[in-house]
Amino acid sequence: MKPFAVYPLMPINIQRASGSWVWDENDRKYLDFYGGHAVISIGHSHPHFVARLKDQLDRVAFYSNSVLNPLRDQLAAKVGELSGYPDYQLFIVNSGAEAVENALKLASFHNGRSKVIAFERGFHGRTSAAVHVTDNPKIAASINRGFERVILPWNDLEAVQDQLAKEDVCALIIEGIQGIGGVHLPAPEFLRELQSLCTKHGTLLVLDEIQSGYGRSGKFFAHQYAGIRPDLITIAKGMGNGFPIGGVMISPKVEASFGLLGTTFGGTHLACAAGLAVLEVIEAERLQENILLRGKELMEGLRQFDEVVEVRGAGGMIGVELPFSAKDFRQRLVQEFGVFTGSSSQPNTLRVLPPLSIMANEVAVFLEAFGNCLSTHQQPVTSHA
Ligand SMILES: Cc1ncc(COP(=O)(O)O)c(C=O)c1O
Repeated sequence: MKPFAVYPLMPINIQRASGSWVWDENDRKYLDFYGGHAVISIGHSHPHFVARLKDQLDRVAFYSNSVLNPLRDQLAAKVGELSGYPDYQLFIVNSGAEAVENALKLASFHNGRSKVIAFERGFHGRTSAAVHVTDNPKIAASINRGFERVILPWNDLEAVQDQLAKEDVCALIIEGIQGIGGVHLPAPEFLRELQSLCTKHGTLLVLDEIQSGYGRSGKFFAHQYAGIRPDLITIAKGMGNGFPIGGVMISPKVEASFGLLGTTFGGTHLACAAGLAVLEVIEAERLQENILLRGKELMEGLRQFDEVVEVRGAGGMIGVELPFSAKDFRQRLVQEFGVFTGSSSQPNTLRVLPPLSIMANEVAVFLEAFGNCLSTHQQPVTSHA
């Protein structure tokens, strides 16, 4: 049997990793400004993360969610404390899509409605409800189209207002910063209006912080730049630094009851140890402050290149719009310059998603490689619309 081929693969076989760097089987070193798709938050193979996981493995890796698990309580308390949501509740799952599924399900349980509002270019995962609220018909099968959903233009408050006024919308889901869609920031005023309109019309506001959360934007959550408090917040990616863990943070206005949600693997002892290790490092090494500074250096550096059309982002979530397709440029960055970056659904936009722990000298290495790749890149200049 062979793996089901769902991605075009780069011919690179990674053998080991440390901090912001990974090494292939020929011992070639690569700078990871992709973070394995915004997953690596505290740096690869962080010694505290490795030690905590090894120690937990020696004790107990898994037992059913039907018994006490103090690690789960500790993780919920720590996420609550560091994110500024100590009064919220945490439901732990294994991935981002699962977090979105559970958030939408919970919203529907809460208000009995089933219609969802989402946004153009948005991405929320590949499972049933998550893929239906994603703006990409190519990745949704007919079995996924089981409830009414409306995809609205980004930052279009009037369109949202018209829909919410019908008072039949279960949830409105929006990314803290659109990631796969090419790094687009919602206007803070737009987010604030969404929150008040949702509250007024009985719709739950779901902030998908799977990519933009966990310190990546320089704040714990990107939506905190707007000062709002959503009803449900989905988390994953950076939460486990590569260990599969996700979650839904749930406002106190949504009450738990037995049987509402459930999972076999969500919040195992090992997963909680990974989640705690990540938060302990974020706090001890002040990684949010670090990525805010490094992100500014990165964005300023990128804006110095005349060819760059636009640089968008916050902290370590950066979109670089080029005057040509980013596809070959990204390939050349990896193959010729040993630098990983990410693509996006906007063909000309490259995503830069480094670990939150990157150092100033690594920013300099990145900018030098980017500049050299740019000055030697041969591509017809196309429209960047
Ligand atoms: C904003 C957002 N939501 C949800 C997901 C889905 O997460 P997962 O791939 O862990 O299911 C992603 C993944 O890229 C994402 O960026």
